[in-house]
Amino acid sequence: MTDDSQLKDIIAARIAQQGRITFAAFMEACLYEPGLGYYTSPGRKVGAEGDFYTSISVHAAFGRVIAREIARMWRNMDQPADFTLVECGAGNGRLACDIMDYLAEREAGMYGQLTLILVEREPSLESAQAELLAAHLDRVRWLAPEEFSGSGFSFTGCLYSNELMDALPVHRVVMADDGLQEIYVALKEGELVEESGPLSNPAIGEYFDRLGIKLHPGQQSEVNLIAPEWLAMAARVLQRGFILTIDYGFPAVELYAPHRNMGSLLCYHRHKVEDNPYIRLGRQDITSHVDFTTMMKRGEELGLLPVWFGEQYRFLLSAGIIEEIEESERSDLPSEEKLRLRLGLKKLIMPDGGMGDTFKVLIQSKGVEKPQLLCQRGIGA
Ligand SMILES: C[S@@+](CC[C@H](N)C(=O)[O-])C[C@H]1O[C@@H](n2cnc3c(N)ncnc32)[C@H](O)[C@@H]1O
Repeated sequence: MTDDSQLKDIIAARIAQQGRITFAAFMEACLYEPGLGYYTSPGRKVGAEGDFYTSISVHAAFGRVIAREIARMWRNMDQPADFTLVECGAGNGRLACDIMDYLAEREAGMYGQLTLILVEREPSLESAQAELLAAHLDRVRWLAPEEFSGSGFSFTGCLYSNELMDALPVHRVVMADDGLQEIYVALKEGELVEESGPLSNPAIGEYFDRLGIKLHPGQQSEVNLIAPEWLAMAARVLQRGFILTIDYGFPAVELYAPHRNMGSLLCYHRHKVEDNPYIRLGRQDITSHVDFTTMMKRGEELGLLPVWFGEQYRFLLSAGIIEEIEESERSDLPSEEKLRLRLGLKKLIMPDGGMGDTFKVLIQSKGVEKPQLLCQRGIGA
């Protein structure tokens, strides 16, 4: 038995029973099959001992800059007493902890009234989150995704996420001679194989029509139908405030440009990038870049105004990472700590191999008059 044989048997049984499945159904099983999926099975995913780094694992300064921006949002909204912070896809709770540490230390007035709600699809992560957030437990609540999106819940404040959208299952498509086809996962002689066929859902064709984009002959790509649905849910639940989304991605013209002939689907295992999703089922991460044009357009239809969109390096540089460095240099922190921050900064903002330009930040607002956020100051202001 290889480690992934149990998951492979489940997927194979599904295909045997119902016929070929969409790539989205396959990705859903690989990432979220209870007990066996990449995010729903034990093991360290993020950081040096895991499979990939997220910005959060690089340095606490990332969370501290986001906290600076969140405090600015609170001021822009006239400091509402019921300001609630929500993190969706909170993982091990590291980002939430860095944000809460900053707010407790620097924004005591806001912190004293604040509620932080963690929403994470994998419930077993709650104990790791509670451990990291031990100093803030009287401010923290947990909601399952269904409770968060349920009809009984709404809030005022800021909903943020880091690398949530890229972990949502996507449909894969290819432009064939006779038009757009979907890539399915089928079974041939006991092995998982790809097969193309008519679209499983007309929404996939409409997705490209709405963007006014036509893929080139032979071009493969992905369509994330869940992300805009998630945004619609978020826009309904948020009464007033901001949605801050950080993720890999591009505007649609760049994401679907002809030079991205094979799409943006990638797998990560032990810090190596892999392009074959049919190996190490449930033991490697599968991700796909976010189409930020759709997030912004859909947002506007839902009453979410785009406040700021750009590369992570521009966000961090204009929202406070320089202040973080200056304050650290002036402090009596050990010199290794100061060096760690300077090296972390390099990783977080460097394009080409760093995290600075593949990662994007999108901030949308609802019901806030002319927000003036830190990132809107521009670099060097
Ligand atoms: C790529 S990880 C990112 C974790 C963390 N934000 C970080 O940056 O290290 C994506 C996380 O989102 C969670 N997730 C996926 N769909 C979700 C949903 N609908 N609601 C809440 N969490 C979800 C997954 O279980 C996983 O922990």
